[in-house]
Amino acid sequence: MISLNQVEKVYRTRTVETLALNNINLSVEQGEFLSIMGPSGCGKSTLLNIIGLLDEPTRGKVEIAGALVRNYSGRELAQLRNEKIGFVFQSFHLINDLPVVDNVELPLLYRKVSARERRRLAEEALQSVGLSNRIRHFPTQLSGGQKQRVAIARAIVGRPSILLADEPTGNLDSVMGNEVMDILLRLNKEYRTTVVMVTHDESMARRTNRLVRLFDGSQVG
Ligand SMILES: Nc1ncnc2c1ncn2[C@@H]1O[C@H](COP(=O)(O)OP(=O)(O)O)[C@@H](O)[C@H]1O
Ligand SMILES: [Mg+2]
Repeated sequence: MISLNQVEKVYRTRTVETLALNNINLSVEQGEFLSIMGPSGCGKSTLLNIIGLLDEPTRGKVEIAGALVRNYSGRELAQLRNEKIGFVFQSFHLINDLPVVDNVELPLLYRKVSARERRRLAEEALQSVGLSNRIRHFPTQLSGGQKQRVAIARAIVGRPSILLADEPTGNLDSVMGNEVMDILLRLNKEYRTTVVMVTHDESMARRTNRLVRLFDGSQVG
């Protein structure tokens, strides 16, 4: 489902060069739930962004859902990302002046889906995260845990085969964090969605199938 071969990422600015990822070799099977841990600045988000086709490696090979990424144009990558990948971020990234249900519909605007079908799929996604009774609310009227559940609904509304989560429980207390984790585990089980999650929380990581540790851009376990 995901395969990285000798992936390297160097960020260059006028004065400094940062080796953010160094020779990463990683393969994730369909239906796996992988967590990534490591200290701040070790390259976790960079790795997730490369898997999610938001960033390109400086060297190495990336294959996502059977597609060798190098062979795709920017537009084709955007389409691949829209169809195959859902993202969840630590700070939710919801649009505050749109109602919950419209936030969830957003990824479908880039597809040929009728307005009625968009609404149906969004309501279904919200139901699966337990928020059917909040669809007309605005994000600012929700708790942190509820906001993250909306973000998950938005990430899964297009039925992606891969769900990427960058510290999804990082801004939540342990009760809300565990609720979010329960939902990710359930989506992984029910739909066999491949999940890759960055976390600082050992107890969350223990609930996943496999843990990859990064240090200074390298895999250390
Ligand atoms: N756009 C960028 N330009 C320059 N350096 C960057 C950029 N993004 C990340 N970095 C650097 O790459 C390293 C890894 O960053 P990141 O992947 O965000 O780490 P983490 O998510 O583990 O905290 C850090 O040293 C960071 O400063
Ligand atoms: Mg990060």
